[in-house]
Amino acid sequence: MKQFKVSIQFKRFIQINSRPTRLFTAGQPIHETRPHLIPTPGNLTPGISALEYYQRRLKLCSNLPKKSLCILFGNIIQYSSGSVFYDFQQDNDLYYLTGWLEPDSIIIIEKKFDNGNDEDVNLHMLVPPKNPQLELWQGVKSGLEGAYEFFNADYVEDINKATIYLKNLISSNDYIYWDKKFQSQDTSPIKSFFNFSHNQNLNEIILKCGKPIKSLSKLTTEMRAIKSNNEIKVMHAANQISSRAINKAIGKVGSRNPIMSEKTLAKFLDYQFVKGGCDKQAYIPVVASGSNALTIHYTRNDDLLFKDELVFIDAGGKLGGYCADISRAWPNNPKGFNDPQRDLYEVVLNTNKQCIELCDESLGYTLNDIHEFSVNSLFNNLKNLPAFKNVTKNEVSKILYPHYIGHHLGLDLHDIPLHSRFNKLVEGNVITIEPGLYIPKDDRWSKYYQGIGIRIEDDIVVGKTNDEIINLTSGCVKEVQDIESLIRNGVTTPGIHDELVELDI
Ligand code: GLY
Ligand code: MN
Ligand code: MN
Repeated sequence: MKQFKVSIQFKRFIQINSRPTRLFTAGQPIHETRPHLIPTPGNLTPGISALEYYQRRLKLCSNLPKKSLCILFGNIIQYSSGSVFYDFQQDNDLYYLTGWLEPDSIIIIEKKFDNGNDEDVNLHMLVPPKNPQLELWQGVKSGLEGAYEFFNADYVEDINKATIYLKNLISSNDYIYWDKKFQSQDTSPIKSFFNFSHNQNLNEIILKCGKPIKSLSKLTTEMRAIKSNNEIKVMHAANQISSRAINKAIGKVGSRNPIMSEKTLAKFLDYQFVKGGCDKQAYIPVVASGSNALTIHYTRNDDLLFKDELVFIDAGGKLGGYCADISRAWPNNPKGFNDPQRDLYEVVLNTNKQCIELCDESLGYTLNDIHEFSVNSLFNNLKNLPAFKNVTKNEVSKILYPHYIGHHLGLDLHDIPLHSRFNKLVEGNVITIEPGLYIPKDDRWSKYYQGIGIRIEDDIVVGKTNDEIINLTSGCVKEVQDIESLIRNGVTTPGIHDELVELDI
C-alpha cells in the first residue's frame, strides 16, 4: 500500500492584523477574496484549478456530436420552515464542471463544431445579476461579471432571461444532454430567481423541444468515477483532517475532561473538522453509545456516553465539496476494551483490512465481489468465537451485517449512484470499506455479545496494483493497541494535537 508522507506543513496565509484591500467581491470564496481558503493562484475551489474545470468540460464533450448542448439546472435554496433556510448545496454535476457555488444558476455547455480544438466548446452561465437591494439581505453575488471573469464563461446572461436564452440555444443545436429534476419551494416566502413554476417552464421547453434528449448524468458519472490527482489530494486533506479529529476524540476518554454525551462528541468532531481546515461536516454524523450503534443510521445523538460501553462514530468533514466518511468504535473507558468488545472488534478489523487489500485494479474485483468477500470473512472470523460457532452465513448477511461493504465517495457521500456495483474497480476510484457487526438484543445471540455494534470504515483509492492502493484514512487509529494507548495516555501522541494539515492545495 502506498504510504503518504506524514510531515505536515502549515502554509495557509492568514492575515489577522488588518483587513487587506481587495479589488474584487465574489459570492463564494475565490483566491482573490479568501486566500486563506484558496491559497493557490489559478485554483477556483480548494485544490482544483480553473484549467482542470475547463478540461473536464472538454472531456465531457469529447465524444458528443457537434451541435450538442449539456444543460444543468443548479440548485435553489431549500427552507426548513418559513424563512429558515438550510445550508446551500449546489448541484454536484454543475459544481464538478464549473466550481460555481451560487444558487439559482443554469449552465449550458455547448459543443458547437467538431474541429477537435478548444473553440468547439462554449460555456454559457446564466446567473443572478448583482443587485444591491437583494445583496443587502443575501450578501455579495459574483454576478455576470464574476462568472465571466473568474469562472471563464464564454457567454453570460441574467438568469431572469433563461427562458428565451434557452429556447434560442436549443433551436440552434441538434442534441440535448440533460436530466429532469424536481425542486419544490412553492411555499417559500422568499422568492427564488427561478421558483418552481419558472423551473417547470424550463423543463417543458426542453421536454417539448423535439430534439433527441439523452441523460447527462450518465456521462458525468463516468467522469466522476475516476478521481484526478488533484481530487485525490483534496480528499486526502479532508480525510487527514477528519482522522486527526477522531483521534483527538478518542484521546479525550482518558483525559481530565472526558466527553460525556453523544451530542457534545458530535459537536466536538464538527469543531475539530473545521478547526483542522475542512469547510464543514460532510453529513449528520452517527454518534452512538453502546447499543444505540445497532441502528445503522442513528443520528439522534442525544444519549449519554456510558463508561462500560463502546462509543461508535460515523463522521467526516467536507473540503472543497469532497467528503470524508469514517467510522470507528472505541471503549469509553481508560482500561480499554472489555473481552466481548475486543472479540468482535478484532473480527471486524480483520475483515476491514482484508477487504482493503482487494482494492487493486489488477485483481479485477467489483465492489460487489468485495461485499461477498466481506460476508465470508466476517462469517469465517466469527465462527472462531465459541458463542458464534453455529452462526450461518445467511444470519451474518441478513442480521449481523445488514448493510453493504461500501460505496463510491467524492462530491457526494454516496457518490455516482448510477455507477454499477458490478463494474470492475479501476485505478482512481475512491470507495469506502466499511464492514460491521451489530449483535441484536435477542436470545438467539449470546448475552455476552448482545448490544455491541461496530463498523470500521476507511476511504480507499483503488490502485493499479496492491502497492498503489492509498488508504486516505490511514491516520485514524484502528489497531486495538493504538486505540488503547490513545485512551490511556490522553492526547499525547506526537503530532495529533498540534499538527495542521497541509492545505497548500
Ligand atoms: N456515513 C454513511 C455511510 O457510511 O455510508
Ligand atoms: Mn460510508
Ligand atoms: Mn460512514
